[in-house]
Amino acid sequence: MTIEKLKKMNKGKVTHIERVANEMFLIKIKTAPDFSSKPGQFISILCDGHTMRRPFSIMNFAKGNCSTAPDYGVISLLFKKKGDGTAYISALKVGDTVDFIGAMGNGFSLNNEKILLVGAGVGVAPVYYLKKYLNDAPRLIAGFQNADEIPACLKDEIDFISTDDGSGGGQGKGSIIDFLEEEIREYQPDRICVCGPHIVLKLTSEIAKAHDIPCEVAMEKTMACSIGVCRGCVITLNKNGKLENASVCKDGPVFLGEEVVW
Ligand SMILES: Cc1cc2nc3c(=O)[nH]c(=O)nc-3n(C[C@H](O)[C@H](O)[C@H](O)COP(=O)(O)OP(=O)(O)OC[C@H]3O[C@@H](n4cnc5c(N)ncnc54)[C@H](O)[C@@H]3O)c2cc1C
Ligand code: FES
Repeated sequence: MTIEKLKKMNKGKVTHIERVANEMFLIKIKTAPDFSSKPGQFISILCDGHTMRRPFSIMNFAKGNCSTAPDYGVISLLFKKKGDGTAYISALKVGDTVDFIGAMGNGFSLNNEKILLVGAGVGVAPVYYLKKYLNDAPRLIAGFQNADEIPACLKDEIDFISTDDGSGGGQGKGSIIDFLEEEIREYQPDRICVCGPHIVLKLTSEIAKAHDIPCEVAMEKTMACSIGVCRGCVITLNKNGKLENASVCKDGPVFLGEEVVW
């Protein structure tokens, strides 16, 4: 076991778990006092019966200065039930122990630019964290398949929501990508940060490039070790014409969209 992994090994207690949309859950985990994280980083959870930990973006982490504040030292995750690992996590109860490593990886840039955040589905989690981290300054837009997929805990926190079938009501009908050009025109961001399915990352990155706006993409790859050892999560980057391999878990998960070989 590497020193890095040992340093990042953590245990926490579930303080809250709730179904917030169709097969989507919000879980809150109280961590050790020395835990720290930044938007875009993730934790990898050990699930009963599996040796490969399951990675999840941090949706929020409240530290602040006041140890009596609600949610002090609590990590929030938003996750979708897919297979055995997420079924195990969704069945956890308040007070149960969670064994995880993290916070892992490199997150979004943190500066005072005018940022447009784009989330799709459960990918809204890390960009929501960035919004909170920057005191709600960025504009957050997000797309979901339909009204049942919109997490109740975030509904009022997202500035613009689109649903593929329009069932979200009021706002957009269609993919969030359909609204991106208009958002860029109206909001005039200095930077775009996006998380969601591969195609949403690719298209957002292409549109941002066409407008000459830097775009940071939070990538997902199935992970084994989560610490940069197994090379199971490698993607290819093109840095000024030179092709390089990068591990999503260690070098990412956030990359410059224009450097990713899609
Ligand atoms: C950096 C990172 C951050 C992530 N953040 C979140 C998050 O905030 N919320 C969330 O719900 N999910 C997130 N994921 C995806 C999540 O890790 C997988 O959904 C989870 O590992 C599935 O585990 P399982 O045992 O339930 O499913 P499995 O039985 O392992 O797989 C069930 C299905 O899920 C698919 N799947 C497995 N791993 C991934 C993956 N890494 N990405 C996409 N599909 C996968 C499989 O192909 C299969 O179709 C993230 C993944 C990465 C790499
Ligand atoms: S998951 Fe092992 S190197 Fe990334």
